[in-house]
Amino acid sequence: MATIPRITFGEATFSCQPDESLLDSLLRQNIQVPFGCRQGVCQACLMRSIDAAPPESAQAGLKDTLQTQNFFLACVCHPEQDMTVALPNQQGAFIEANVIKKQLLSPDIIHLVLEYQTPFNFFAGQFVNLKRPDGLIRSYSIANIPHAKNVLEFHIRRLPKGQFSNWVHEELKLGTALSLSAAQGACHYVPGRATQPLLLIGTGSGLAPLYGIIADALTQGHQGPIHLFHGSRDLNGLYFIDELRELSEKFNNFHYVASISGDNIDSKHVKGRANDIALASIDSLSGWRVFLCGHPEMVNQSKKMAFMKGASMADIYTDAFHVLQADS
Ligand SMILES: Cc1cc2nc3c(=O)[nH]c(=O)nc-3n(C[C@H](O)[C@H](O)[C@H](O)COP(=O)(O)OP(=O)(O)OC[C@H]3O[C@@H](n4cnc5c(N)ncnc54)[C@H](O)[C@@H]3O)c2cc1C
Ligand code: FES
Repeated sequence: MATIPRITFGEATFSCQPDESLLDSLLRQNIQVPFGCRQGVCQACLMRSIDAAPPESAQAGLKDTLQTQNFFLACVCHPEQDMTVALPNQQGAFIEANVIKKQLLSPDIIHLVLEYQTPFNFFAGQFVNLKRPDGLIRSYSIANIPHAKNVLEFHIRRLPKGQFSNWVHEELKLGTALSLSAAQGACHYVPGRATQPLLLIGTGSGLAPLYGIIADALTQGHQGPIHLFHGSRDLNGLYFIDELRELSEKFNNFHYVASISGDNIDSKHVKGRANDIALASIDSLSGWRVFLCGHPEMVNQSKKMAFMKGASMADIYTDAFHVLQADS
């Protein structure tokens, strides 16, 4: 029978059961460590092993410089041997930014604008981890391009009973300081290949990174066609409709389709799921650059479909909005 690994954190030593992640075992000991998505995406649960090398699978997605220093993600770490673990030195890992604007974009989605004072580098479409004063962390995508005003814009969809999203919608006040991590993720526009066709598909607040990516591409003079398909089950998940229609009038190469998959639909919108409509309207995606953002199921399914239609995996960029599962 395999031995059960022993974990040491500070003064505490305890076992990590075969069916639990290292994060679960720490939380079971009432050891408070930061976490967000619990799916190996947001990197909020970054930790370091002081002795044994962590399992390779717990280092997926980390920079090679972090991997060689035995950093790993606790939520997807299933230890294979005894480990002494610690939190990374988080000094400087979070900076502060003040809320300067909150405005509803639709009944479910709010536009949150933060202003930062400390130098901060990012690409539109990357995400940051926002930390509430009580330590609760969630990831949100950046919807604007860097500019002189030192602001970050987010589109935050309220989930029924969602802790962070409801707090932002209901309680977060103008002037409040929030902590935010460095920007992460590879879902952003890279200049070059200016005539390449771009396909962007998003659901609900999945428009946030796409909005930033489109602004970036147009600002950088992208000349190839840019096709945006934004979908939602109902009207509450659609927003920026007028702004995007205006943008398509201003830029000949920008094309926009808003769709609703539910039954309650008016004549202004196309009926159906954004990814089905998008992929049915394009014969071949060979040579295209594809961005997929929002509901994880839509993102995974569309990724496979885009590949089957000829897109190269290297040209498919994704940002799946994983949320905590109900029993987490
Ligand atoms: C890389 C990344 C980028 C992200 N970017 C954004 C963004 O730009 N905008 C944005 O709004 N979100 C984004 N998210 C999701 C975000 O991080 C949070 O998970 C989300 O806001 C919910 O957090 P919460 O604390 O409100 O809900 P939690 O308290 O974590 O609760 C979520 C609960 O809601 C339930 N639930 C899940 N989906 C639904 C649903 N469709 N309807 C009803 N209930 C549901 C689940 O059962 C779960 O129990 C992103 C996530 C990742 C990983
Ligand atoms: S990567 Fe572990 S909590 Fe998000």
